[in-house]
Amino acid sequence: MKDFKKSVIYQIYPKSFKDSNGDGIGDLKGVIEKLPYLKQLGIDYIWLTPFYVSPQKDNGYDVADYYRIDEKFGTMADFEELVREGRKLDIEIMLDMVFNHTSTEHSWFKRAMAGEEKYKNYYIIAEPKNGGEPTNWLSKFGGSAWEYIKECNEYYLHLFDVTQADLNWKNKELRQEIFEIVKFWIGKGVKGFRLDVINLVAKPDDYKNDDRGDGRRFYTDGPNIHDYLKEFNRETFGKQADVITVGEMSSTSIENCIRYSAPQEQELSMVFSFHHLKVDYKGGDKWSVMDFDFKQLIQILNLWQVEMQEGNGWNALFWCNHDQPRIVSRFGDDEKYHNKSAKMLATVMHMMRGTPYIYQGEEVGMTNPYFDKIELHRDIESINYYEIAKQQGQNKQQIMRVLQSKSRDNSRTPMQWDTSANAGFTTGTPWISLSENYPNINVEANLRDRNSIYYYYQQLIQLRKDYDIIAYGKYKPLVADHEKIFAYMREYKNQKLLVINNFYGQETKFQCPIDIDEYNHKILISNYADSASYSKEIVIRPYEAVVYHLEK
Ligand code: GLC
Ligand code: CA
Repeated sequence: MKDFKKSVIYQIYPKSFKDSNGDGIGDLKGVIEKLPYLKQLGIDYIWLTPFYVSPQKDNGYDVADYYRIDEKFGTMADFEELVREGRKLDIEIMLDMVFNHTSTEHSWFKRAMAGEEKYKNYYIIAEPKNGGEPTNWLSKFGGSAWEYIKECNEYYLHLFDVTQADLNWKNKELRQEIFEIVKFWIGKGVKGFRLDVINLVAKPDDYKNDDRGDGRRFYTDGPNIHDYLKEFNRETFGKQADVITVGEMSSTSIENCIRYSAPQEQELSMVFSFHHLKVDYKGGDKWSVMDFDFKQLIQILNLWQVEMQEGNGWNALFWCNHDQPRIVSRFGDDEKYHNKSAKMLATVMHMMRGTPYIYQGEEVGMTNPYFDKIELHRDIESINYYEIAKQQGQNKQQIMRVLQSKSRDNSRTPMQWDTSANAGFTTGTPWISLSENYPNINVEANLRDRNSIYYYYQQLIQLRKDYDIIAYGKYKPLVADHEKIFAYMREYKNQKLLVINNFYGQETKFQCPIDIDEYNHKILISNYADSASYSKEIVIRPYEAVVYHLEK
């Protein structure tokens, strides 16, 4: 059985990974074709984002049938083959489950709208207040979170797009339906689940205006959420010792994340949180352009690392996913120090305590595409933002600048395999444009170059297998006030790891509080070939990352 603490998980956004039949949309056969590539990288699990039947308003996060695969992505036979072929290579499959809402195309919703009481109870439906929306809550994709239903003069709640109707977890019958879905996929050999915005499912008993915000404080980590997760665990994945889970936790707290992921609580295996990816939100606003706040970043990372180990909670470690801009463009330098900064950022994540996730293309240093026209965008959140900002009178160029830095489409451009047309992603017309840098940044080029970002990731993954301290060591912050350096320690039995990273493109001096000459020491990994001969005060070069292994 795999130990998720020693595992590395690779996220695939199938639509943009590899198209096997030339229709411009990546598919399951494409994933099967690339399994050997993933094996070579060394990963243990593949997390597939939703491929179920869906109108694709939110690229599959609007599910219309949880039991069937959208034909754009393939067939159930393809999926079964993927599970089988993966297993031969010791790679297991983790599925993405969206249970906060369904598509309004789901038969449950249609039956609810047709007036069937049973299905109305599956959703969150409320009466108008003063002739309008029940509350002032806002959708995370812009506009009101409530949509009027003419037929019955009521409103339904949608925390995301208007085509994503929120489910009513207070209804035991609904929860039971959800458990059946999960059991069905466990029966197909799935060994992991990523639970989409799972900490938003517990809604309050009454719906009140939020005079301090958009309503999120009422439903984030909401009433009974821990009971729901305990029940979910008990009735489904908890019965299978080898099925792992990761909850996507939106705007959550450390206290809740400890409870979600501490083994004795029997809820989930681990949690994603996002605070470290809001350090470039000006005044908390995602739709802004701002250099990241380095001090705030390391403060957040240190805090979560330290607090989450006390209660035995477990973090999912990540910089990138299908909702986030590319990290090398964001906290690194995607031009002059492309290779070095991508490796430094990888070192930071993979040496922390938790299970690392790699998002497709991160391992070859894919960057943001810098789209300069709204027509190139596909993401509903980006398009909504564009429309709203335009209505508010903002200048188009400024809006595009914001999208270039924050749009979710930044991570959704096709995987860059080689230098051929469309980077080898498709022989047809891709559903979204490629980044123009694919002739330089691609898998083929990475595999040819021993000094590539790819081989560095491969090495980081192997180190996790070889050194228990990486998975199990205690985390200790080292210096919290350096202008450029993020350094930390890990400790396990008679060993220590010393991890030093320069987040900037300038040299900087660093006085290490640990005297490594007191130990047997060696360098485990570094992004500079001739890494630091060590002395108490060392000069750390641009974007340098170095990991020392110390032993007494
Ligand atoms: C999660 C998904 C995101 C989706 C949203 C609504 O945050 O990662 O892509 O839009 O949930 O399902
Ligand atoms: Ca296809």
